[in-house]
Amino acid sequence: MVTASSPVLVFDSGVGGLSVAAEIRRRLPGLPLHYLMDRAGFPYGNKDDATLIERVLKVCGDAVVQQQPRMLVVACNTASTLVLPALRAALDIPVIGVVPALKVAAQASPGGNIGLLATPATVNRSYTDNLVHEFAAGCHVRRMGSTELVQWAEDWVGLGREPAALFEHLDGWLMRPDPVSQVVLGCTHFPLLRPMLERLWPTVIWVDSGEAIARRVEQLLGNEIAVKGNTAVTLCWTGEQPPGEGVRRYVAAL
Ligand code: DGL
Repeated sequence: MVTASSPVLVFDSGVGGLSVAAEIRRRLPGLPLHYLMDRAGFPYGNKDDATLIERVLKVCGDAVVQQQPRMLVVACNTASTLVLPALRAALDIPVIGVVPALKVAAQASPGGNIGLLATPATVNRSYTDNLVHEFAAGCHVRRMGSTELVQWAEDWVGLGREPAALFEHLDGWLMRPDPVSQVVLGCTHFPLLRPMLERLWPTVIWVDSGEAIARRVEQLLGNEIAVKGNTAVTLCWTGEQPPGEGVRRYVAAL
């Protein structure tokens, strides 16, 4: 039974979903929130589809049994673009997913050059092909899959280490043959690097889905539960190794 203390469970492979959790906290500070990192399964962005489907169903299924959340937010594009239908069929609570915000970028820049930066798995998905055809058909969409950025976001949040090779990694793709006007951050890890991205490429608009997801959570909650006061976020993980001090500090500050 859903009560005022039933949490919303936010899930990702690592720290990426914290970019979504932060938006939910901003909008609904009194909502009990659990954050689950699948540390034992990290990273997701280079896993094959069958392995990932099995993994996400198991980890989320177990967590829902243990934690009895009122709602699950899959704050991971790599998982959402693949596993949402199976998760929704398996669970009897609402499941919200996050997918690349191509529609937002295409509407803001009709006919423009748009970048899609995500994990290799997400950029290669037929789900992503469909998003491009449906919402950004008039734009020039260039895609890049990066596992490096995922790890750099982990290091930034966990260790406070700025990615030294960010400029070399992205500049050619962003600027040639001609500069992109907007980049869709199609991996929830990437908005965590936003301060550095904005500093290095001040003319580019960086688009993510965090705020839209927070709005959707609020909408689905309706007036079901009075959200009052402020509660700490509960951090959960898979695997033997607990998240480091930096991650715990980051979560405590949300
Ligand atoms: N944060 C995840 C995403 O949005 C995946 C990162 C990974 O584990 O590769 O796609």
